[in-house]
Amino acid sequence: MISSKPKSLSILLLMLSQSEHLLKKRQEAGQPAFIPIHVESLRIDKVLGFDIYIYVGRELVLYRSQTLPFTNENLERLRENNVQQIYIAHESKAAYQRYIEENLSDILTDPKIEEVKKAEILYDTSKALIKDVLANPTYSENIKRSQGLVENTIDYILKGRDAFLSLMKITSFNYYTYTHSVNVATFSLALARQLGINDRDQLMVLGTGALLHDVGKSKVPERILTKRTSLNRSEFEIMKKHPGWGGEILRETDMIHEESYYPVLHHHERMDGSGYPHGLVEADMHPYSRIVAIADVFDALTTERVYQSAIETFSALKLMHGMKNNFDPQLLREFTVLMGPNSPGVRY
Ligand SMILES: [Fe+2]
Ligand SMILES: [Fe+2]
Repeated sequence: MISSKPKSLSILLLMLSQSEHLLKKRQEAGQPAFIPIHVESLRIDKVLGFDIYIYVGRELVLYRSQTLPFTNENLERLRENNVQQIYIAHESKAAYQRYIEENLSDILTDPKIEEVKKAEILYDTSKALIKDVLANPTYSENIKRSQGLVENTIDYILKGRDAFLSLMKITSFNYYTYTHSVNVATFSLALARQLGINDRDQLMVLGTGALLHDVGKSKVPERILTKRTSLNRSEFEIMKKHPGWGGEILRETDMIHEESYYPVLHHHERMDGSGYPHGLVEADMHPYSRIVAIADVFDALTTERVYQSAIETFSALKLMHGMKNNFDPQLLREFTVLMGPNSPGVRY
């Protein structure tokens, strides 16, 4: 057992039975009992708010209680004992998520944490948050959290190309609306920077719109969202409503900037008027909608989906150039430069 003082057998047994009880409960419910978390994400001397478990032999045991701060000594002992992975109970997921969000800027500026680890933490946090947003899109607290997250993401990306590339490297291959939303926000912010937009307020407005662009999908039946074959006419009519639904959902809380609505409402519009729901043309499309439209299609093409396997970056860009009347040609050119063969962070 890892502790500054030897634990009595009775305490150890109590811990074991506690974790066993949790494990059993979750197994009965068909859910994972414990989830791994990043050791690096824990802040020294801050009260945890969730119990931490580690493996001792083949058993998971309580390592640090939620009411206690995580100390430097705790960290040293994990290192001394070569503990690579720590766990929290599934029930503590929300508490952990809040903890990370509260300490995110601290984590992202911590020089002791590797860049790729930071990117992983940021990405995982974003994914979990967007999942909450989609489950409860009219909850104003969730929108506030999204904005805090976009702010942290911007700070991180503004730090330089390395930070941004780390984030790009881990964009997900699995197609879920929440990973897709995070990817689209990442690509949109990267494209904006490539275009020379460095103003924090502008990036914030664009990033929020990009992160929330598919929030209207929370109203589309699961059956349509995950259909393996192409949508029939009536299903497509329903799907076409998601940009408008997104706008309506966000209007209910009305916490985002006016211009953040454009990417939500118009990310499926196309420059040649072939898009939906309004068939807008070039002049009617706000620059933020044009940016998000490119990021959205690129991510959809390069990510594995239920009905389509992922294609490589180069093929996706080629395909998009073939549809060039759909996109703003200057933006597509810049996006190609950003994602092109000279970009070391891009998957091929
Ligand atoms: Fe969409
Ligand atoms: Fe999308």
